[in-house]
Amino acid sequence: MNITFKEVTKDNLYALSMLKVSSEQNNFVAPNTYSVAQSKFYPSWMPLGVYDDEVPVGFFMYGIDNTDKALWIIRMMIDEKFQGKGYGRHALEKLIERIKMNNNYSEVFLSFVPGNERAKKLYESVGFKDTGRIEEDEIVYRLQL
Ligand SMILES: CC(C)(COP(=O)(O)OP(=O)(O)OC[C@H]1O[C@@H](n2cnc3c(N)ncnc32)[C@H](O)[C@@H]1OP(=O)(O)O)[C@@H](O)C(=O)NCCC(=O)NCCS
Repeated sequence: MNITFKEVTKDNLYALSMLKVSSEQNNFVAPNTYSVAQSKFYPSWMPLGVYDDEVPVGFFMYGIDNTDKALWIIRMMIDEKFQGKGYGRHALEKLIERIKMNNNYSEVFLSFVPGNERAKKLYESVGFKDTGRIEEDEIVYRLQL
């Protein structure tokens, strides 16, 4: 496994927009095309394709929240065909390293839909802690960087 991130360009937008979660997971994450469109309105949001060598396997986005000015991992998905193989964990660890190198923030936040046990377990295993906050019906976790 050789996980890398690639910025979204006109050349890989189609491949990244074809990545899908299972139908039971559709309410856990927005479609990638929507995320890329959203990023056009928030200059600090960085949408990234997750690749294993040259194969696109997922999509992440991070950036500064307009309201609280904190750093958030805004989206994270691994295509259903590639789930359960360690891609999510490796990519999340790599993203945290990237965030630490490129930003002066001391903490990063993310949120997930209650009941998304796979995501919850993954986030806790890399050190995220429950803040006790619920925002837009999602549980907010925080990682001290
Ligand atoms: C959550 C998600 C990103 C995790 O990515 P992944 O590549 O499937 O996860 P990994 O294979 O790296 O496994 C990470 C952890 O998830 C759990 N996990 C993996 N496969 C699982 C399965 N089939 N059932 C339950 N838990 C599982 C394990 O705890 C695993 O930890 P381990 O490394 O100690 O075994 C991915 O499943 C996904 O895109 N889900 C749908 C969208 C979503 O929920 N995004 C998060 C929004 S907040």
